[in-house]
Amino acid sequence: MVNTKNIAILRGDYIGPEIMDAGLAVLAAAAKKSSFSYQTIDYPFGGAAIDQTGNPLPIATIEGCQAADAVLLSAIGGPKWDQASKRPEAGLLEIRNKLGLFANIRPTKINSILAKRSPIKAEVIAGTDFVIVRELTSGIYFGKPRNQTATAAIDASTYTVEEIERIVRVGFKMSQHRKQHVTIVDKANVLATSKLWRQVAAKVSQDYPEITLDYCYVDAAAMKIISQPTFFDVIITANLFGDILSDEASVLTGSLGTIPSMSAGSTGPNLYEPIHGSAPDIAGKGIADPISMIQSIEMMLRESFQENQLADQIAQAVQKTIAAGILTPDLGGTATTQTVTTEIIRNLEG
Ligand code: NAD
Ligand code: IPM
Ligand code: MN
Repeated sequence: MVNTKNIAILRGDYIGPEIMDAGLAVLAAAAKKSSFSYQTIDYPFGGAAIDQTGNPLPIATIEGCQAADAVLLSAIGGPKWDQASKRPEAGLLEIRNKLGLFANIRPTKINSILAKRSPIKAEVIAGTDFVIVRELTSGIYFGKPRNQTATAAIDASTYTVEEIERIVRVGFKMSQHRKQHVTIVDKANVLATSKLWRQVAAKVSQDYPEITLDYCYVDAAAMKIISQPTFFDVIITANLFGDILSDEASVLTGSLGTIPSMSAGSTGPNLYEPIHGSAPDIAGKGIADPISMIQSIEMMLRESFQENQLADQIAQAVQKTIAAGILTPDLGGTATTQTVTTEIIRNLEG
């Protein structure tokens, strides 16, 4: 019997639909020659859902995602809805919360092909391969109170021991299969939450004696990611720090437009999405880099469906395309989204 996987599709805003189309075309081409069987269902989400329903995360979207085997999201938000009472971004935070997706994995890996595209010196980035394990459903993004009056505003940041322990364990487990080095990035010289993170991490590390644990203040980590990126293996960090540092780390690879991510919880489907936003500045021009979306699909095939062979084929087709210099402008090329996508599909089929 064929076990058809259900993938919920959230196409998003601005470049969102452009790169989703590209990603799904690559998935269809890859799956065609394999036994992997899937179906996709689109749900309204983000700004597009505000336009349709007044709500960035309609109930049907939540239910559809909960019932899916995996969720694919491109990117949401943009100037059109910046003044909305409930912004697209609120829908993104809510879907992460509703699906319990507390662990967001954001990889940075440099190979010799990508190294040529990086603004950082080749000898500095050679061998860079780390992941940022970002806590995704707590901290300052979700803390209460959160409000604004005419004269002041507050965003509280809270972490419980349980919330810290579960994300720290995700990072330690990942490191077991990598370079066995965990760095907790925090601001423990100032913040109470960070002090608690250090205490919990020290305790958890007793269960992983083979793994080297160190700590790095976030300001120094921001510097070290650029100046000595090979230092890192697994960075485990709070929601806001992980958001900022992952955009920074993307620069090492040459473009924010190449970086995928996976968000996972204890149960239910994982969500896969590029780390970048809806790039309103380039939307509609047909030049968005589809690689972040395609690599998010590759991650989905590996992590949700154990389709490693299919994922490897996509990875190789992407690398071949980059090596051939068929690149969108963010990576220094002149190709369109369509040209890059067609070339990746050609490499898949070739
Ligand atoms: P952004 O990540 O959309 O863009 C930052 C820069 O990177 C822009 O110059 C953009 O053109 C470029 N870029 C991003 N993705 C690219 C791609 N695939 N190909 C080529 N270039 C790419 O950040 P922003 O402009 O600060 O935010 C725009 C909107 O996106 C905001 O509303 C923001 O809240 C939202 N956002 C959404 C998500 C998400 O859906 N997960 C993530 C980040 C930001
Ligand atoms: C990301 C984005 C989101 C975040 C925004 C759009 C709410 O920047 O996924 O990195 O801050 O988590
Ligand atoms: Mn971000």
